[in-house]
Amino acid sequence: MAIKHYLQFSDFTLDEYEYVIERSRVIKRKFKNYEPHHSLADRTLVMVFEKNSTRTRLSFEAGMHQLGGAAIYLNTRDSQLGRGEPIEDAAQVMSRMCDVIMIRTFGQEIIDRFAAYSRVPVINGLTNEQHPCQVLADVFTYIEQRGSIKDKVVAWIGDANNMLYSWLQAAEVFGFHVNVSTPKGYDIDMKQVSPGNRRYTFFANPADACQDADLVTTDVWTSMGYEDENAARLKAFDGWIVDQAKMARARKDALFMHCLPAHRGEEVSAEVIDGPQSVVWEEAENRLHVQKALLEYLVLGKVA
Ligand code: CP
Ligand code: NVA
Repeated sequence: MAIKHYLQFSDFTLDEYEYVIERSRVIKRKFKNYEPHHSLADRTLVMVFEKNSTRTRLSFEAGMHQLGGAAIYLNTRDSQLGRGEPIEDAAQVMSRMCDVIMIRTFGQEIIDRFAAYSRVPVINGLTNEQHPCQVLADVFTYIEQRGSIKDKVVAWIGDANNMLYSWLQAAEVFGFHVNVSTPKGYDIDMKQVSPGNRRYTFFANPADACQDADLVTTDVWTSMGYEDENAARLKAFDGWIVDQAKMARARKDALFMHCLPAHRGEEVSAEVIDGPQSVVWEEAENRLHVQKALLEYLVLGKVA
């Protein structure tokens, strides 16, 4: 049977997400009650980081430990990947020594090539084009706070980046709509959007994109790997801050999300991210719970 990987959000069906979300609930409840849940006892996760991380590393490492297994951290600087070992060779070696692999890297083609040579499931911990684990946590957080996300409106304000492309895939799977507003010159890369995706609308004005939204979300204006463009981006994104005036255009009960790390005064005002509509800390915590369910599903399949 083909190995199941999680390389982009569209890799799972709605049925699989419903299962993973239900397991996330169970696993979270047990964690809160200090009840052990060692479904991956004696299993090993290898984590490969080619970019910085706080949340992703912590949630995968702590999560694997809590599942009764072990997690090993590798980065480009200390491993042979940094000295040019072919990705295909690394995949074959690593996947003979562990049960599941998580990678944070640059181009999506790197993780696709790695997965093609891996004997075990591979999870995307962020690429330039996708961040599916984060959007899984975000969808879980929305459902936890407000119920079903079907037919809801998510406003995406800011850069057309990995988070947006995973949100656009999630909209197709879960049946919600995304209002997208990006500044001129930082438009949606249509290569990253499936040709049949009718689940989004573009707005030139970011405040209009927030109109009647159920969830307003944004992300850094300069993603990892694009640091050289920072000064130009700061200029181009002027006006795209999510502030109280934009939140006021959304529904009264709208939530605010940000995958973090955040820059107060750039993509979001302190008043919004630290205000009553913000669920950013729940969102960050939920990375732990949904990824434990994801690891369990990829390694063991459906167990309940
Ligand atoms: N949101 C997120 O992936 O955070 P890190 O970069 O800290 O892992
Ligand atoms: N878009 C951001 C997300 C960080 C978690 C980046 O790629 O740097």
